[in-house]
Amino acid sequence: MMNPLRSDAIAILDSGAGGLTVAREVMRQLPRETVIYVGDTARCPYGPRPESEVRRFTLEIVQFLMQFRLKALVIACNTATAAALETVRSRLAVPVLGVIEPGARAAIKVTKRNRVGVIGTQGTIRSGAYEKALRRLHPGITVFSLACPAFVPLVEGGKRGSEEAGRIVAETLEPLKETGIDSLILGCTHYPLLADPISCAMGESVAIISSAEETAAELSTILQHQNLLSDIETPRHRFFTTGSPETFARIAEDWFGHPIHVEQVALEPLEPVTG
Ligand code: DGL
Repeated sequence: MMNPLRSDAIAILDSGAGGLTVAREVMRQLPRETVIYVGDTARCPYGPRPESEVRRFTLEIVQFLMQFRLKALVIACNTATAAALETVRSRLAVPVLGVIEPGARAAIKVTKRNRVGVIGTQGTIRSGAYEKALRRLHPGITVFSLACPAFVPLVEGGKRGSEEAGRIVAETLEPLKETGIDSLILGCTHYPLLADPISCAMGESVAIISSAEETAAELSTILQHQNLLSDIETPRHRFFTTGSPETFARIAEDWFGHPIHVEQVALEPLEPVTG
């Protein structure tokens, strides 16, 4: 890979539309950067899939992204971060950021009672990646984890503001309410799109933590440190989905507040990988 240039793009990937929560924050904190986003909507959700399959899918997205000039890659998916961050880092010459460490760091800054909840997909919760990251930062922390498999289909189905979403979120989070947590990590990038029903279910005493801000801040620090910040006046972002561009564009417009153009992409399959 060539030496990155300041005008090169930042790639952001997710299993679907959830990574838009990170993309929006990256665009807010780094408004001169060009973003290339890929959502593997056709194969979403990644959460219930085996780790090796998630790793292969992630590498297929990375392979597609290699045709662009990139200066950094953000794996804006907790499930893919847990399954593939180290593998992707070992294969790319540019900085590769995940969302788990930043999410854990954000929670440590906020918790006062050192009792933290984590919600995520089955894959993320099964990996124990948040517990490990939180304990590395603070060995005395108590962590309560809960998989919420019903949440991602609500977001990808465009139902985030519905009554059904409110009901499902409240029922799913019930087990966390008696734990005494004072902060809850949204350990799936789709969940900030459900922040209202989540905070309504948990009540005011629980701080809701998303990794988007901390991830974008870390990216900003890295680019600054490597003298790679762009000075482009009006960057031209590109959004790709493996699924329906119309559905993806509707979710993106709802989240960004303005229409975006979405392109469809077919990813080249890779052989199953073990490493
Ligand atoms: N948004 C993703 C995450 O952060 C995954 C959702 C899914 O595909 O299950 O884990």
